[in-house]
Amino acid sequence: MRFVPGFKAASAATLALILCLICIPALAGHDGAKAPKKGILLVAFGTSVPEAKVSFLDMQKQVAKDCPGVPVRWAYTSNIIRHKLQKEEGVSPDSVQTALAKMMDEGFTDVAVQSLHTIPGEEFHQKVLSVVNSFRGIPGGFHKLSVGLPMMTGPGDMEKVVDAILATTPKQRKKGEAVVLMGHGTHHAGNIYYPGLQWYLAQKDSDILVGTVEGTPSLDYVVAELKARKVKAVWLRPLMSVAGDHARNDMAGAEDDSWISVLTKAGFKVTPVIKGTAEYPAFRAIWVEHLKAALATLD
Ligand code: CO
Repeated sequence: MRFVPGFKAASAATLALILCLICIPALAGHDGAKAPKKGILLVAFGTSVPEAKVSFLDMQKQVAKDCPGVPVRWAYTSNIIRHKLQKEEGVSPDSVQTALAKMMDEGFTDVAVQSLHTIPGEEFHQKVLSVVNSFRGIPGGFHKLSVGLPMMTGPGDMEKVVDAILATTPKQRKKGEAVVLMGHGTHHAGNIYYPGLQWYLAQKDSDILVGTVEGTPSLDYVVAELKARKVKAVWLRPLMSVAGDHARNDMAGAEDDSWISVLTKAGFKVTPVIKGTAEYPAFRAIWVEHLKAALATLD
């Protein structure tokens, strides 16, 4: 090959420039100093009830508004719900481990994982906290991971939850009418937050009672307390982020053993409110505050 004078020099410079452009991203990948990329992983128990998903859509909008510019991904901790959605709808949010692995592959370096659970129970400890901890220290993995706590995780949260409950109690409730909150409840030590909440509520409104589907306090306790108070009317609402299967069936369903049936049979006039806590800005604010604290530790 023959060169005209001057061309060789220009060609060498061009070649050097091209090599540099090729090398920059390659070097960045080699020395481990990835460009920082912050992300949020929102983690809910999940729901397979289409109407209940409004809670998660509301939360998505809230986070986009309050934490602008940070990409958001989702995970469900319930294997049963994820598998059900996969089978019925052909698509489902990931588990926490799959979502984090995907975020790692996408180049996220710093991730705040926010639990949208109500209490720190089994779902939070086993499927959020333990999983996040297992992702720490993976070579070439995340720079920082932080965890945002569930809605009720400390004394400071309890008063905020009580205020949110009072602020979202139906305006039509008259004096002497009770409110019954249906929490999930668990065999896990985290169940203590439900009777704990009952104590905090009692300081402000002694006619608001907390019961649980699977833990303590039970529905029997709630019925006995309502009778002792001689109330006639009861507002029934879920203490869960979504108004899903528990709210629509166990709480307000037509079966004999639903809470509405049991309370009605016990002589109370019952009005159910089918609305998850994450549908109200007052409750969403508590989770978002925890998320902001988790994001702050990434800086
Ligand atoms: Co359940």
